[in-house]
Amino acid sequence: MKFAAAILPLITVASAAPCIHGTSLMPRAPDGTVEVNDFNYTNTGGPLNWYGLDKSENSACSKGSRQSPIDIVTESSGYAKSGSIKFSVPNADNVKFENLGSGLEVVLTNGTLVTPHDSYKLAQFHFHTPSEHRINEEYFPMEAHFVFENTAGDVAVVGFLFELSQFGYSFPLFDSVFSHIDDIAAPGTYTRTDKLSFAGLINHFDAHGVYYYSGSLTTPPCTEGVAWYISTEPLPLNVQSYNAVKKVLKFNARYTQNALGQSNLLEVAAHDLNN
Ligand SMILES: *[C@@H]1O[C@H](CO)[C@@H](O)[C@H](O)[C@H]1NC(C)=O
Ligand SMILES: *[C@@H]1O[C@H](CO)[C@@H](O)[C@H](O)[C@H]1NC(C)=O
Ligand SMILES: [Zn+2]
Repeated sequence: MKFAAAILPLITVASAAPCIHGTSLMPRAPDGTVEVNDFNYTNTGGPLNWYGLDKSENSACSKGSRQSPIDIVTESSGYAKSGSIKFSVPNADNVKFENLGSGLEVVLTNGTLVTPHDSYKLAQFHFHTPSEHRINEEYFPMEAHFVFENTAGDVAVVGFLFELSQFGYSFPLFDSVFSHIDDIAAPGTYTRTDKLSFAGLINHFDAHGVYYYSGSLTTPPCTEGVAWYISTEPLPLNVQSYNAVKKVLKFNARYTQNALGQSNLLEVAAHDLNN
């Protein structure tokens, strides 16, 4: 009896504390709804059947021969000439962060990409887990895509791979983006971010090599002619953010496509099935 009486107040205190603390960590209600994409990564909604979801729109998905993502072979890959790509995104605040079902997207249009051939405006950035690109066959836990468009509608993407940090560190930019991820656990909802500062990311991009190749969108309609610029140095990602993102994003990586210029893997497979 004495024992129980002594332990009771402890329990009360212990269970009350997380509650008080919990109010500030509780997910906020989403700020609103967005339309979810009809394609996904599961069963017949998945990448093997994107063409089947819309044969006229998505024909490049199963017939294109410069499809993304690819396995980047460092020995034979193209590289952007050092200092030739100007990636720039000013600091932003209160930006829409959407769960599209097929992905998590930050709708930020303040940002530019200037290459030796063209100049583009930011459309959005989003995340994939696991990574879509592989480097010498190795995959990474996450990948971010900054999607840019020029006035003619041509697309360029700046990509970053992430590697889990043994020091529990992420760039503050991504801590900030992911701090409200629980608010949008349900597909078709959005929230708003806190302040986003891109200086660290831009410094990272400028300080390391950049793989370059011409490929495609990795989601329907898989349009080709996309200029890919992928930082050769992965960004650090803390395990907590990674687990939180994975819980919401679940799985959204298209399978590795055939080497650039080779027949689409679906055509190869369909041909082999019928012969
Ligand atoms: C995936 O997409 C297909 C086709 O639109 C749909 O029928 C299916 O319900 C979706 N599955 C999931 C898990 O979202
Ligand atoms: C984008 O830039 C404009 C002009 O400088 C600014 O008014 C706006 O607040 C910026 N958008 C975000 C989301 O920060
Ligand atoms: Zn993407």
